[in-house]
Amino acid sequence: MMLAIPDLLGKGGVGRIRAIIDAADWVDGNATSGHQSALAKSNRQLPENSAAAREARRLVLDALGRSPLFIAAALPLKIFPPLFNRYESGEAFGTHIDNAVRIHQGSEFRVRSDLSATLFLEDPDAYEGGELVVEDNLGVHSAKLPAGHLLLYPASSLHRVEPVMRGTRVASFFWIQSMVRDDGARTLLFDLDQSIQAIAADRGHGDREVVRLTGLYHNLLRRWADT
Ligand code: NI
Repeated sequence: MMLAIPDLLGKGGVGRIRAIIDAADWVDGNATSGHQSALAKSNRQLPENSAAAREARRLVLDALGRSPLFIAAALPLKIFPPLFNRYESGEAFGTHIDNAVRIHQGSEFRVRSDLSATLFLEDPDAYEGGELVVEDNLGVHSAKLPAGHLLLYPASSLHRVEPVMRGTRVASFFWIQSMVRDDGARTLLFDLDQSIQAIAADRGHGDREVVRLTGLYHNLLRRWADT
């Protein structure tokens, strides 16, 4: 499933993160790449354990925790500490696949990447190019979302960032290990959840059929979830 989560951060939230990271020192983005990725990648990145990255990451994680749509869609078990990158002057990230297991530098923390996430931190009008292009079995999808919006997509997909020909593309990116590993099962749960929310808005959460459907949701989650 590919899903856009609008306004994960408002203008104020984006501004706070940009103020922190724009003032920091950036390094060659190949610091985090797997071997195949390193061949395709040209951008810059905030050092994983810099003070700025830690401070900005906290704001991203707080916003994720406040988003019911993110939680319903990703069913997160573990979130890799968000990283930050920027592309300018023709920089790009050619077609690649993300590593299946990510290990956080200098710690034992590891995440199986079920979902990849990109949080856009620059207005689309402020740069040319820089689309995130994701290939799945339904075709090729191109995304360039407003600042503050998040794109979730299967980490199993081939994807790339098109060259940025004018301006600067700034984003946060990270991976999620979901309680529900299988993308198809997770999508079914998300669709069921969204229908329950819609029916409950109409009939109230105490409605007998809403309660039964909520039970069905939790019993499927019980069957499929790792915790
Ligand atoms: Ni990637």
